[in-house]
Amino acid sequence: MTRFRPTRVEVDLEAIRHNVRALKPEASELMAVVKANGYGHGDVAVARAALEAGATWLGVALVEEGAGLREAGIDAPILVLSELPPGSEREALARDLTPSLYSEVGLARLVEAAGERRVGVHVKVDTGMHRVGVFPPEEAPAFAERVAGAGLVVEGLWTHFARSEEDEATTKEQLSRFLDVGDEVRRRGISPRYLDAANSGATILHPEAHLDRVRAGIAIYGLEPGPGVGASLDLRPALAWRSAVTMVRRLPAGEAVSYGHRYRLERPSTLATVPVGYADGYVRLLSSRADVLIRGRRCRVAGSVTMDQLLADCGDLEVEPGDEVTLIGRQGDEVVSAEELARLSGTICYEVVTRIGERVPREHTG
Ligand SMILES: Cc1ncc(COP(=O)(O)O)c(C=O)c1O
Repeated sequence: MTRFRPTRVEVDLEAIRHNVRALKPEASELMAVVKANGYGHGDVAVARAALEAGATWLGVALVEEGAGLREAGIDAPILVLSELPPGSEREALARDLTPSLYSEVGLARLVEAAGERRVGVHVKVDTGMHRVGVFPPEEAPAFAERVAGAGLVVEGLWTHFARSEEDEATTKEQLSRFLDVGDEVRRRGISPRYLDAANSGATILHPEAHLDRVRAGIAIYGLEPGPGVGASLDLRPALAWRSAVTMVRRLPAGEAVSYGHRYRLERPSTLATVPVGYADGYVRLLSSRADVLIRGRRCRVAGSVTMDQLLADCGDLEVEPGDEVTLIGRQGDEVVSAEELARLSGTICYEVVTRIGERVPREHTG
């Protein structure tokens, strides 16, 4: 279908490659986490770029996401980061997706689906995140033994940090618990090829957690796992969100605009209409708070963001229909970052980029 609306997300794949090269430790492999459509960037294109730059694994949340990558012809190893949902085991194995495992029922289902095959699995240990994984961690070695005893191969052992971007003590504590599990598993004669723990925060801040492989998500997209984290690495944001002005009107002082008339002009001003709304993931919380860039200048979002459109207060700027609008990214000397929109809408940059809706096309360059 021809696209008629000028709103789109641009993704610079050279930035992804640059970030993967900057993040990959010399002595460890790197798994590029491309769940949630590559954090909103387009998973197939990001996966290819990351693999070109030296990533050796991909991480997904859903069997469906892994299957999509396979359908696109990607044959690199793919880890499903949660246990396979009941009924998905055969599909996952047929697609050569690597399962995570951490429950007895999950083990039983996988053994049945695997039949005679010696399927490689990655045992997830809960060392303090308390979301999924074998808990308490001291039970993980016995679980790994049961996995191996059932004819599967314990290819990996992994855990996930709760606060790696912000708190050293809990991260070190989690790592220490995990390394104890690794030692005990090996003592019992099982030698996983991979021990891994580090998300982006730990990849950047905790070299001692790099182990055999890091699992980097947000930082490969050039975004910060936490305020200021990664600043020294010169990571490049890969995503820009752009649109174009569809209509311009000059309004006198005293006029109020958009639903609820919550934004009243104190001076005569030029208002530009932009075809982006909360149905695209530009949340209503940004109403009258965020800026968009037009002609290299910051223009405040005027009043309520509506479902499909927003208004920008351009003051006395000469603006014309067709002028480019940048919602996230650089325009001239100005930048609006995903981190800035996150601050203004009370969330994290992960949510800002993953909530950009499906109806916004992703265009890849580089
Ligand atoms: C299990 C797991 N590993 C790794 C990651 C990547 O984390 P980050 O994006 O902070 O690098 C995530 C993301 O949420 C995850 O859930």
